[in-house]
Amino acid sequence: MYKFSIQTKITLPFILLFAVIIFAISIVTISLFNRKYDEQFSVETREWLEAIVQTNYIYEPEKVKRAYRAEVVVFGQDGSISSSTFANPTGSLVQLATDLKAHRVQKQLRDGFGDGFILENVTVLSKPYKAIYYLQSDGHLYCLIRPIGKIAEARRQAILLMIGVASSGVFLVICISYFIGRNLSKPISNLVAFTHRVANGNLNIQCELTTQDEIGNLTASFNQMTVELRNSRDELIRVERLAVAGKMATSFAHEIRNPLSSMRMLAQMLLNPSLTEANRHQSLKYILEEIERIDLIVKGLMDFAKPERLVRSQCDLRYVLREIMNLMDANLRHHKISLIENYDSSIGPILLDYDKIKQVIINLLLNAIESQRNNGEIRVSTRKREDRVCICVSDNGKGISPSDLDRVFEPFFTTKLEGTGLGLANSKRIIDQHGGKMRIESILGKGTEVEIEIPVESNTSQE
Ligand SMILES: Nc1ncnc2c1ncn2[C@@H]1O[C@H](COP(=O)(O)OP(=O)(O)O)[C@@H](O)[C@H]1O
Ligand SMILES: [Mg+2]
Repeated sequence: MYKFSIQTKITLPFILLFAVIIFAISIVTISLFNRKYDEQFSVETREWLEAIVQTNYIYEPEKVKRAYRAEVVVFGQDGSISSSTFANPTGSLVQLATDLKAHRVQKQLRDGFGDGFILENVTVLSKPYKAIYYLQSDGHLYCLIRPIGKIAEARRQAILLMIGVASSGVFLVICISYFIGRNLSKPISNLVAFTHRVANGNLNIQCELTTQDEIGNLTASFNQMTVELRNSRDELIRVERLAVAGKMATSFAHEIRNPLSSMRMLAQMLLNPSLTEANRHQSLKYILEEIERIDLIVKGLMDFAKPERLVRSQCDLRYVLREIMNLMDANLRHHKISLIENYDSSIGPILLDYDKIKQVIINLLLNAIESQRNNGEIRVSTRKREDRVCICVSDNGKGISPSDLDRVFEPFFTTKLEGTGLGLANSKRIIDQHGGKMRIESILGKGTEVEIEIPVESNTSQE
């Protein structure tokens, strides 16, 4: 398929048509001009010859040369030159005779060709002339030769003028058709740019109506379509949110029911007056632990349901990660897990919410630690990928089954007894806020790898 723009498709045929017409007109005009001029010149030359014959100037070539500014060459009956007004013809006599083709013309005139004379364009001594041949009664061939160099020059100038006019005309047509084409194609280009933005998910825009024609109608229809699309998307989001809220409420109720029922049981025990001081103390400690747990769940849920705005600053990722590793050092050593770090030194400072990113990495490290059995190994690395940076946390722990892998980002999804199931859900939320992506890959029994990708320029994030 040819990739011509609409503007080119509109303007090119006009330009080509105009160019063909104007050059055809120029060629026809020039050839008509040539023919007319040649005819006029021939008639005039013939009249001159008649006057020369009638006034007996025919025997005085030099006078003719002066009067008419034309050359005269006379050939004898045998075709040899008997007189010539050409300057210094001596060395060129043979050439002169050849150029004037005296033999042939003499023969034609003797055979009765023409009305006693023949008109021809000849090149004599490399210059263009109009020659009129006349066979005298004594058999001599009289040639009156008029230079046409000036006419050739005039013709050349006329052609140049025509080419100049034609080129200016074509240029003018190019300019005019360019502006017409641009006027027509601009609203279409605007509409195309608009549809691209809509296709990229921006449904909050409208395309400016600049024309009242078919393109204007099309633009209005697109605007209408975008509004309808936005409404149905908002409706879908609303329905989806309601479904998620319902699901979360159920999970939340389920999550806090266990600590609540153990608290109720402990509180009932506390009501027993025969309880020893030590048991009372122990029960209160358990109640506090359960309250802590409920608090943790509520806080996690609130983080997820209503995330705080990011407070971003330029951070050195290597520094952030080193600090987290220092924090986790005791925990890692306690679980006898070796840590392998590999940070890309080419990554400069990037805009991050330091505390939130710290929270994400700690979540990932805690999951990696909790997945380990013996000889645990956790790798943390960073690398630059075009305009994004990647942080990768991998472990050689127990891995995740394929069916669980689809659910790990769901709030309250946990396979741990003490788990809240909010770590990955909240982490993903934070990375989304940074305009980034979070991926998880895992092989059951082999290990898990979580990759975070954050744009260096994270202005595009949805906070
Ligand atoms: N590195 C990991 N290795 C194995 N399983 C993991 C890993 N990270 C996450 N998971 C799985 O994803 C689930 C959800 O994780 P998360 O959201 O952090 O909640 P929690 O840690 O409280 O269970 C975990 O219960 C676990 O089954
Ligand atoms: Mg976790």
